[in-house]
Amino acid sequence: MEEVIFATGNEGKMREIRSILADTYPKILSMKEAGIRTEVTEDGKTYEENALMKARAVAAMATEAIVMADDSGLEVDFLNREPGIYSARYMGESTSYRIKNANLISRMEGVPAEKRTARFVCAIAAVLPDGREMTVRATIEGRIGYEEKGEGGFGYDPIFFVPELGKTTAELTEEEKNLVSHRGKALRLMKEELKKL
Ligand code: IMP
Repeated sequence: MEEVIFATGNEGKMREIRSILADTYPKILSMKEAGIRTEVTEDGKTYEENALMKARAVAAMATEAIVMADDSGLEVDFLNREPGIYSARYMGESTSYRIKNANLISRMEGVPAEKRTARFVCAIAAVLPDGREMTVRATIEGRIGYEEKGEGGFGYDPIFFVPELGKTTAELTEEEKNLVSHRGKALRLMKEELKKL
């Protein structure tokens, strides 16, 4: 059974990745667990390019494993799909999400519900031990709320309202979010693609 290394330092993501991939890949390591340290400048123009850059950098140091990496972001239609691939860096990497979320809400002042559409996007890249590369992408559609709601999740979750669920993604449990999220969907897609090989 092949080992998977997921190129992230984020523990929350690792929990999600493990719970979704475990049935097929029992051995999933974070970069830290694999003893790999690398800094990648995410200067690609798409989520896929950024995810591939991260996966390639780790794959260069771990030739026996399937290496995966993700890149994700929030696209707000009314703001020309900002912050998009710059979601983590929006208003500065170290600015709190309280401030980033408040800023997005204020930029949407007076915008009616039907024009508040937004989506989370996630691309996942995989580099296989034989050098083959693949990417998948998935989204979850929602709307920018009028105030922060919910304590779960991270980042922009408190302002991302999913009409079908009547809740923000910050009001979902981790399990509930994994079932519907961009990252959950992309991970399941990647698992299916890898099975076809
Ligand atoms: P990255 O994929 O780790 O580079 O994350 C990109 C950024 O997109 C994060 O730092 C968050 O700001 C935002 N983001 C991505 N996925 C989510 C999510 O599930 N909830 C809230 N914010 C997210």
